[in-house]
Amino acid sequence: MTTITLIEGDGIGPEVAQATRCVVDALGAPIEWEVLEAGLPAIEAHGTPLPAHVLESIRRNKIALKGPVTTPVGTGFRSVNVTLRQELELFASVRPCRLFDGVPSRFDVVDLVVVRENTEDLYEGVEFEMGSKEATKLRGYLDYMHGFKIRRDAGISLKPISVTATNAIVHFAFDYAKRHRRRKVTLGHKANIMRFSDGLWLDTALEVEKGYRDAGFEAVQVDELAMVLAWHPEELDVIVLPNLYGDIISDLCAGLIGGLGFAPGMNLGNEHAVFEPTHGSAPDIAGRGIANPIAMILSAELMLDHLGLTAEATRLGRAVRAVLGSGKIRTADMKGEGEPSTTSEVADALVAAVEG
Ligand code: NAI
Repeated sequence: MTTITLIEGDGIGPEVAQATRCVVDALGAPIEWEVLEAGLPAIEAHGTPLPAHVLESIRRNKIALKGPVTTPVGTGFRSVNVTLRQELELFASVRPCRLFDGVPSRFDVVDLVVVRENTEDLYEGVEFEMGSKEATKLRGYLDYMHGFKIRRDAGISLKPISVTATNAIVHFAFDYAKRHRRRKVTLGHKANIMRFSDGLWLDTALEVEKGYRDAGFEAVQVDELAMVLAWHPEELDVIVLPNLYGDIISDLCAGLIGGLGFAPGMNLGNEHAVFEPTHGSAPDIAGRGIANPIAMILSAELMLDHLGLTAEATRLGRAVRAVLGSGKIRTADMKGEGEPSTTSEVADALVAAVEG
């Protein structure tokens, strides 16, 4: 038996997490759940969105399946997601986006994977508030040392990109492509504008690429990448990006396959892994029983595969394809006519499919 830390999250988190747990349990996989709270319920119970015992549980079990968690604005709490990624050194975020029969999309073929660097860039949290003592000092220093004039009424966020983190994520992307028989790795950057951050990212990647000459590779400016994705997404395969571009582009890719409700994800480090859907806690539909659980169920498929439970992962993937392909399920985010399927109807259909 493998023990998995299950964090249901908040908003629609508990709804999609419980649906996922039903479907995974129906597979009869040799796993047991250690269910713990993070996010808004943990603030109420423990005064913090990420209590130490939750982090300790993931460190012990090595694997977590996580529902979305609201990032409270203006409360002083750090984002649970950013903290988990930094504390557990989950340096790679992997978000496969594949089009399913039965899910409406503007495209016929989309089958790509966004690999996002998860630990640094503008999301590292090195920030200086407008008007603060620190921001004033930094502005003075930059002016004195380099003649950089930053406006007095500017807030400042720094964008560190290191050789170490770039090496790790680009190696990871090539290895992932090889393991999953992918044909090409596309690296997004803006090296022409940000020479010392994106420029270093590009130069480091070009060095790494020399070790993978049998793999397809291209480096593309991220704005051009966005255009190609909206125009000919079938031309792309594995896309590797720094943190901020990766966040934006992976939501764009979710849109290509019919929405966030179909986009799973995983955050991987050398020791730990956290599997979670790309979407957030969707407060606008929370508690209504209409959240689409497929993204979290597909995240569980990635988890089973990661655990080496290949037969269970395959059965789960097949069940999702069969249920969506049957056209009998239409979740709220798929739009269309008539009453949408409820979260539990989707779960019931999937349980029947994995048991059938
Ligand atoms: P969101 O992803 O929660 O919602 C965006 C839109 O998509 C909403 O209209 C929502 O109803 C819809 N949607 C999302 N997931 C859906 C699903 N499974 N089924 C049907 N419709 C779905 O993004 P938003 O509103 O920007 O963020 C809400 C909160 O979630 C914020 O506090 C944000 O920080 C947090 N968040 C957490 C993440 C995580 O825990 N990994 C990831 C992204 C956001």
